[in-house]
Amino acid sequence: MINNVKVELGERSYPIAIGTDILSDLGKRIKEFGFSRVAILSNPKVFHLYGERVTDSLEREGLKANVVVVPDGEEYKELLWVYYIYGEILKQRLDRGSAIIALGGGVIGDMAGFVASTYMRGISFIQVPTTLLAQVDSSVGGKTGVNHAIGKNMIGTFYQPRLVWTDVGTLKTLPRREFLAGIAEVIKYGVIRDQMLFSYLETHRQGMLDLESEVLGYIITRSCEIKSDIVSRDEREGGLRAVLNYGHTIGHAIETATGYTVYLHGEAVAIGMLIEARLSAALGLIGEEEYGRIRSLINSYGLPTDLSRDVVVERILSSMELDKKAVAGSLRFVLPEKIGTVSIRSITDRDIIAKSLNPY
Ligand SMILES: NC(=O)c1ccc[n+]([C@@H]2O[C@H](COP(=O)([O-])OP(=O)(O)OC[C@H]3O[C@@H](n4cnc5c(N)ncnc54)[C@H](O)[C@@H]3O)[C@@H](O)[C@H]2O)c1
Repeated sequence: MINNVKVELGERSYPIAIGTDILSDLGKRIKEFGFSRVAILSNPKVFHLYGERVTDSLEREGLKANVVVVPDGEEYKELLWVYYIYGEILKQRLDRGSAIIALGGGVIGDMAGFVASTYMRGISFIQVPTTLLAQVDSSVGGKTGVNHAIGKNMIGTFYQPRLVWTDVGTLKTLPRREFLAGIAEVIKYGVIRDQMLFSYLETHRQGMLDLESEVLGYIITRSCEIKSDIVSRDEREGGLRAVLNYGHTIGHAIETATGYTVYLHGEAVAIGMLIEARLSAALGLIGEEEYGRIRSLINSYGLPTDLSRDVVVERILSSMELDKKAVAGSLRFVLPEKIGTVSIRSITDRDIIAKSLNPY
């Protein structure tokens, strides 16, 4: 089975292929582009698991696979390591007709995209995402970037890949906590755009947790369809794309306030979605029943729903106020109106936000 989704962006359009055990077919697909050279960017853990499958498939097609490995971790998503990668691919003689293949999660994908967008004024890149978060979110849409000591993802570009090649089989080796964190983003797509996806997540919980290929294929394809539709209409976050921030306004503030050490990104988003749903209920936009469904679904996947009591609400509020998306005196939130529909609202009443943050 291979599902295909297209991101429509004129001459920069690209396909997303989603299938099971398709890593070994990557070489055949890449050959069609006629790249002069290719280099794989990965980390030791992912390369150990899947590197051979990818290099073999390239070599079967007569493509020499150059490899660049960077250490595993968010802390290496920074300019020093970008400089290291430039050096390696210069030595490997990648030129304007070459491509970089990102084999890994969002960290590798973001760095590979950033390098590809700046190396020799831009070369091709291909996403081969291996975490659920990368398969449903970061590999699609063309946001690339690295962190700066002063802020996460502050240095970056918009640069679309030529192809996204998603093998759902790679999720079998993903640590469970990382997998569950990725589900938070899928729940987000359900709430913002697709009540059928939301219901599917309610009824196929066991299939999801057992990593059934058909179930994963469906939810990843649907998530990519939703994201690609939004990105096609608003590539650079001029308006509509902001709906993808549901759960993220508060999620980011939670990550900052807790120094990125307590929650994985998806876990912070899960709490953020619940708080924003509570805010929506406080404003009378959604009823108790829909709020309860969102809460139960997040809970049923073992994701956190509430801030632990030692997290200081005041710190989260001030971190939101300092956020690059805050507009003087008011905070903008993506709020559910019912499952599958959201609206963007500016809120000036600090008390109502504080109350939603702290239900105790
Ligand atoms: N560009 C975007 O639009 C966008 C969107 C969301 C997040 N992001 C970025 O994505 C990053 C987070 O991505 P992530 O959650 O994928 O984290 P990650 O890339 O750090 O991967 C998580 C862990 O899983 C390991 N791993 C990856 N695939 C594996 C597999 N198949 N089997 C076993 N282990 C595997 C990795 O080595 C790592 O230790 C952040 O830097 C975030 O800023 C970008």
